[in-house]
Amino acid sequence: MSFSSDAGKSGLDAFWMPFTANRQFKAEPRMLTSAEGMYYTNDKGEKVLDGTAGLWCVNAGHGRREISEAVARQVAQLDYAPPFQMGHPLAFEFAERLTEHTPGNLNHVFFTNSGSESVETALKIAIAYHRARGEGTRQRLIGREKGYHGVNFGGISVGGIPNNRKVYGSLLNGVDHLPHTLNIKLNAFTKGLPENGIELADELEKIVALHDASNIAAVIVEPMSGSGGVIMPPKGYLRRLREITRRHGILLIFDEVITGFGRVGEAFASTRWDVVPDIITTAKGLTNGAIPMGAVFVSDEIHDTFMQGPENMIELFHGYTYSGHPVGAAAGLATLDIYERDGLFQRTIEMESYFEEAVHSLKGLPNVIDIRNTGLVAAVELAARDGKPGARGYEVFKNAYEHGVMVRCTMDILAMSPPLIIEKPHIDQLVGTLENAIRATE
Ligand SMILES: Cc1ncc(COP(=O)(O)O)c(C=O)c1O
Repeated sequence: MSFSSDAGKSGLDAFWMPFTANRQFKAEPRMLTSAEGMYYTNDKGEKVLDGTAGLWCVNAGHGRREISEAVARQVAQLDYAPPFQMGHPLAFEFAERLTEHTPGNLNHVFFTNSGSESVETALKIAIAYHRARGEGTRQRLIGREKGYHGVNFGGISVGGIPNNRKVYGSLLNGVDHLPHTLNIKLNAFTKGLPENGIELADELEKIVALHDASNIAAVIVEPMSGSGGVIMPPKGYLRRLREITRRHGILLIFDEVITGFGRVGEAFASTRWDVVPDIITTAKGLTNGAIPMGAVFVSDEIHDTFMQGPENMIELFHGYTYSGHPVGAAAGLATLDIYERDGLFQRTIEMESYFEEAVHSLKGLPNVIDIRNTGLVAAVELAARDGKPGARGYEVFKNAYEHGVMVRCTMDILAMSPPLIIEKPHIDQLVGTLENAIRATE
C-alpha cells in the first residue's frame, strides 16, 4: 500500500486517528512500519531514533524477542479466559511478581487495559472504599491543573488540560483542582527537581477547609506530570501532599502511567522519591507497550476493607472483559524479566546525568525558554509564536522527524522519554538533531 497525499484514495480516510490533526497528517503521513532496539523504520525505509519510547511505553526498547515469543506461545496455549468468577494462572503469577516492585504495602493488583481504565478504576475504588468503611460522604475528588489522567469521564474530570475537557459537558460532579507546579519564572532550567514550589501542596488545606475532609475521597496527581508538559514536582512537594492527605484521611493516588517502570529511575516515582501513596495507577511500560494492559496497585488496608461480608458476594462490582488477559499477562511477565535481568530501572539512574547534561546544552538556543528533566525524561519548552501557540513546537518536531529522530510535541513543549536501553551515542543523536531542528525553526 502506498500513502499518497490523496487521503481518500490511498486508504487513510477510514481511520479517525486519536489526538491527531487528521487532515494535516493524512496530507503528509508519517508511517512507521517496523522497529528494533532504539529505532523505528518508516515506510520510506528510513531509520528513526525513538526519542519517546513510542508513547512513553516501550521502556525496554523495541522488538524484544522474549516478549513476542511469550505472546505467541500464550495465544496458542490459552488465547482467552474469562476473569469473572474464573481464573488462569498467569494473571495471578503476574500480580504476585509485580508486588515485588511496589512500594509500601501496595500488595494487591487490579488489572485493566489502559491508563485511562486504571484511573477510572482507582477513582471508583477510592469512593467505594470510604463507603465500605462507613464514610460514604467522602465522594469528592481532587486533581490538579495540567494533570493528565487519560480520556474517560473520571480522568478528564480530575485532569486539568482544558482542551481535553471543554467540549465534553458537565463532567463529574464534586471535583476540585490543585494548582499545577510549573513556574518557569522561578525554576527555569533547573536540573532535576526544582527548589521552589513546595508550598503549592498547602493549597490542599484550603480545599479541605472549603469542603471539609469528611466529604473528600481522594487526591490524584502524577508524581511528575507528563502529557501536561513534563512538569516536575518541587522538592518536598509530594511528601507534603502525603502528610496532608494522611492527616485528613484522604486517599492519595499516584498516577504512574508514565513514571512507572523505570522512567524516573527505580520501578516507580513513588520509590525514587520515597513517598508512598495509597493507590498507584499504571499501564504503558507494564507490557513494554506490546499488548494493551494496565494495573492498579492498592494497599492492604484498602483491599482488606472490601474483603468482608458474606463470602459468596462479589466485593467490588467493577472489572473488564480483558482484566488480566492471558496474553497481556504473558507479555507483562516477559517484560518484567527483562527489566529485572537487565537492571533497567537502575540504568535510568546511571544514564541520568549524561542525559541531563546533553539536554541542558540546548540552553541559549533561539526561543528556548525552559529545559526540565529527571530520570530519562526531559522537555524543552519554546516560546510560542504570537497568536499561533503550538506552531513552532510542531515545526521543530517535524524537522527532527525528517532528520531521523522522533520526539514528542505538546504545543510548544518538546518532550523526550527514550527507551531505558539508550546509549550515549543515541543521546548525542537525539539532542544533536533536536538542536539542529530548533536552530532551523524561526
Ligand atoms: C499519567 C497518565 N495517566 C493516564 C494516561 C492514559 O493512558 P491510556 O492512553 O493508556 O489510556 C496517560 C497516557 O499518557 C498518562 O500519561
